[in-house]
Amino acid sequence: MSRVYIFDTTLRDGEQTPGISLSVEEKLEIARQLAKLQVDVIEAGFPVASPGDFEATAAIAAEIEGPAIAALARATAKDIKAAAAALKQAKQPLIHTFIATSPIHMEYKLRKRPNQVMQMAIEAVAHARGFADDVEFSAEDATRSDWVFLAEILAAVIEAGATRINVPDTVGYTTPEEYRRLIQYLKDSVPEIHRCQLSVHCHNDLGLAVANSLAALQAGATQVECTINGLGERAGNASLEEIVMALATRQDTYGLETKIVTEHIYRTSHLVSVLTGISVQPNKAIVGANAFAHESGIHQDGFLKAPSTYEIMTPQSIGLHQSRLVLGKHSGRHAFREKLKEMGYHLTEIELEKAFERFISLADKKKEISDRDLEALLKEDLIAVPESFVLDYIHVSSGNSTVPTATVRLLRGEVVVEEAACGAGPIDAVYRAIDRASGIMVQLQSYALRAVTGGKDALGEVTVRITSNGSDYVGRGMSTDVIEASAKAYVHALNKLVYEQGESPKSPVAIEGEV
Ligand code: KIV
Ligand code: ZN
Repeated sequence: MSRVYIFDTTLRDGEQTPGISLSVEEKLEIARQLAKLQVDVIEAGFPVASPGDFEATAAIAAEIEGPAIAALARATAKDIKAAAAALKQAKQPLIHTFIATSPIHMEYKLRKRPNQVMQMAIEAVAHARGFADDVEFSAEDATRSDWVFLAEILAAVIEAGATRINVPDTVGYTTPEEYRRLIQYLKDSVPEIHRCQLSVHCHNDLGLAVANSLAALQAGATQVECTINGLGERAGNASLEEIVMALATRQDTYGLETKIVTEHIYRTSHLVSVLTGISVQPNKAIVGANAFAHESGIHQDGFLKAPSTYEIMTPQSIGLHQSRLVLGKHSGRHAFREKLKEMGYHLTEIELEKAFERFISLADKKKEISDRDLEALLKEDLIAVPESFVLDYIHVSSGNSTVPTATVRLLRGEVVVEEAACGAGPIDAVYRAIDRASGIMVQLQSYALRAVTGGKDALGEVTVRITSNGSDYVGRGMSTDVIEASAKAYVHALNKLVYEQGESPKSPVAIEGEV
């Protein structure tokens, strides 16, 4: 069985998903989980892009052990120096430099001739090798490049010291058959390519990213670049969980293995979804809420007789466990602790106590607490930020023939601020009242509400994205009352803003967001 190396780029290409903006602490949390998953490489960021990216890459490089830590750099001295500086403390630093090689990119984006691009690529790799023993070169838009030129530039960068060669399908244009032939062609025509990791990196514009990656692995690629939940530019990147589980489930076909601890897949997906604010679609392969649900009678009947009738992999293999314990309002700390252990959560005594308090208050409103409810409950710790504003009181009056009106009370330290407002709907009214009470000018970019489980007493989970001074902040709130959940999410986003920007309240403001 040959080994496939997993290069995770959730924190770099995945973070380029429109609307995602992770703080340094959030990126570190994801990196810790990726290390538990045992990916081979974590691409931590693009250090020259912003001070935040630099800081996050440096923090991950300093703390995370196990995977190699990669930093992206264009083929320029400035970018490479920034990447090298950010990776200074990494145990296994990997500088990843790239330049576009397709005629369309060279002519319109770079405005350079192929020989100039070749020169820049060679210089970049040689420069990067001055800082790190492990250097990856990516030929951006490789799949729309001239194959002969591509082979020449790859041969040249290998001679200059590249240890990993990446052949990206940057715009998600290729097909499995064509990509397989390209990889085969490069293996046959690039001298010394066998000394390097031969990497593939696929985008999902035609929904073929995973299929293309698997085809390339069959043709002999040794490394695959992918993201958790398939996050990434436009339609996203190839999804890590789908590639890994395809290789694990169809070893008979692929004969390839990874060292991913698949039992960590579900938690990693969940963490990334919580911290990015991007929900996983219910029918998403492997990690979607319906991936292991059986709805039709015929399927249920077959599944109950033998799970293998309709399940090609077990939920346990990705870390989803069938409940032995059902919790309710009479459950004590012991059962609560056991349940969390069974779900793979190991909390400290303090964390456990805080979670237990929230559990008891939820159990007062909801008869049975499911695993999904507990996960939602635990999220509150993951997303916690210092509470500059505390939502103390909320009252809403609404109906089909009244003007929706809301009163809210926010605590800011010792200061109590109470405000009221009318709105187009109850949530609009609440947000206008919170705007007045907080005194912070923001724009509401998006609002999403989902039920965590089925049933009339389901927990409602609200995710909002607000913008202030060009930065985005994602807030989440949960409650069996969706208006309270909406208010909590908004206040959570404001608290993040205050924490990160040090925003001080301004005088009461015009409301710019609409629900
Ligand atoms: O899609 C792409 O080409 C990239 C490169 C920087 C590897 O993300
Ligand atoms: Zn990419």
